[in-house]
Amino acid sequence: MAKQKSISLNHSPEEELAHPDIENVLFSREQINHRVIEMSDTITSDYQTLGATELTIVGITNGAVVFVSDLLRGVRLHTRFDTVRVTSYYDYDSPVALPKILAQGKLRLDGKHVLLVDDILDTGNTLSLLRKTLLAQNPVSLRTCVLLDKKSRRVTPFEAEYVGFDLPDVFVVGYGLDYAERYRNLPYIGTLKIERRDTSSWDD
Ligand code: XMP
Repeated sequence: MAKQKSISLNHSPEEELAHPDIENVLFSREQINHRVIEMSDTITSDYQTLGATELTIVGITNGAVVFVSDLLRGVRLHTRFDTVRVTSYYDYDSPVALPKILAQGKLRLDGKHVLLVDDILDTGNTLSLLRKTLLAQNPVSLRTCVLLDKKSRRVTPFEAEYVGFDLPDVFVVGYGLDYAERYRNLPYIGTLKIERRDTSSWDD
């Protein structure tokens, strides 16, 4: 007989599902769902006000993949969807990670309203680079949307038009965000236990 999942009424669903490697859940599944629906509604009405019937959404992979798939399903306009793949690498001369575009999107952006979507705005380097790259393709408009914004970490000045939540300077995982490629599948966003940041302990 299949083992039944026990449900304790003393715990929230979030605590019930909490991954053993997670220290604190900062944004629960419910908070994220609620905020993402609000953002989709705002985006829909803002572009309707602009007179746009179609929006091209460009997600930055891998981190934005979960967020953008939820966001775009709430947008009530005709949508086109594409991705750009970006990686961050460390340069000897720079204390911060520098982004590098690994794969461009395939859709043409000229004459289109474009919304660039990322999981988190941190130093601002990734979105600055991509904004410059996408603007060179002559879209009618280009706005940016992020779920999380770590304003205190900015190195390159950058403001996103749409922000889900402000975040202090803490490293977070879940809902698409990873640590050494793990934890993207968590439905909430949280901080990692300090002992799990040492990947040599990952023999499981
Ligand atoms: P920049 O610094 O270019 O960076 O604005 C954006 C990228 O940095 C990564 N990043 C994080 N990834 N937890 C993560 O899993 C974090 O707390 C975090 N802060 C920054 C992320 O890949 C993002 O696209």
